[in-house]
Amino acid sequence: MRRVLALTYSQTGQLTDILDSVLTPLRDNDEIELDIVQIEPEQPFPFPWPFVKFFRIFPETVAMQPIALKPITPKYAEYDLVILSYQVWFLSPSLPISSFLQSEQGQELISNTPVVTLIGCRGMWLMAQEKVKQLLKQANAKLVDNIALIDECGSAFSFLATPLWMFTGRKKPYSWVPKAGVSEKEIKDASRFGQAIKQRLLADSTKIDSPMLAGLSAVKINEKLIASERVGNHSFSIWSKLLRKLGPQQSKRRVIGLSVYVTFLLTLILTVVPITALIKKLIAPLTAKKIAKQKSYYAQPSGE
Ligand SMILES: Cc1cc2nc3c(=O)[nH]c(=O)nc-3n(C[C@H](O)[C@H](O)[C@H](O)COP(=O)(O)O)c2cc1C
Repeated sequence: MRRVLALTYSQTGQLTDILDSVLTPLRDNDEIELDIVQIEPEQPFPFPWPFVKFFRIFPETVAMQPIALKPITPKYAEYDLVILSYQVWFLSPSLPISSFLQSEQGQELISNTPVVTLIGCRGMWLMAQEKVKQLLKQANAKLVDNIALIDECGSAFSFLATPLWMFTGRKKPYSWVPKAGVSEKEIKDASRFGQAIKQRLLADSTKIDSPMLAGLSAVKINEKLIASERVGNHSFSIWSKLLRKLGPQQSKRRVIGLSVYVTFLLTLILTVVPITALIKKLIAPLTAKKIAKQKSYYAQPSGE
């Protein structure tokens, strides 16, 4: 019997749907026992998000400052495979997930265990995955595969469409906005990953220690976003430190600092992202080798 633990947290239900599709082939199999565990913060985050609250959690999210979670009761202490699904918040794993990965119970559950990460986000997940890799390493877990599904409307439009979804609770609040979220087809097609995982689980009873999803397009690296993510992540760390120094989340000083930050962020999105993408395109022939290396690094372990 193979034991699989699937961990999830989702505000809109999108990540639950993605995970559900991946898990479909693993269900109703006498040789596989599936345990699905919801990670929930003690104080739930709102959805739709009030504008200020959305940005208020930015400093703690980037710093991965753990929040209190509701206790979870997995069936077993050890599993043959853990599927960790998560969404990205501010180029970092969402707070419930980073908190879980730093909790004693979370670390014990994944220690010495192969882990497949499953991301559902707007489209910028590279830096978040770097942070998750670090947390997995600290917990002595082994990352064997990574799947990333991103919003269908493309990286430029999603800068508008996804926040509007977060603020209104609707994927297409206005007729002139493209629909936010991962496409239904992509979600449905994600069952191919479950199929490959099932094959490997049932092939023999040895420990899973290498990728199962090679050649299945588990991730697609948008090379135009690599530099933006790196620059963005660096500036996010500085702002996160600065804003936390100004005072606790509700303090007046923090709110003022946050307004400056939001203006900075919008400027960053409107300038740095398109400018770095343009510069990258112009110098592409000179940097082709370096970019190919970066793409292959971020695509690991499953590959594009
Ligand atoms: C506070 C917040 C920050 C977000 N930041 C990012 C981000 O940096 N990169 C990204 O690709 N998506 C970002 N998203 C979108 C989420 O990753 C995800 O697509 C969306 O919240 C739906 O996830 P759900 O399954 O929890 O409903 C953010 C969402 C929230 C709520």
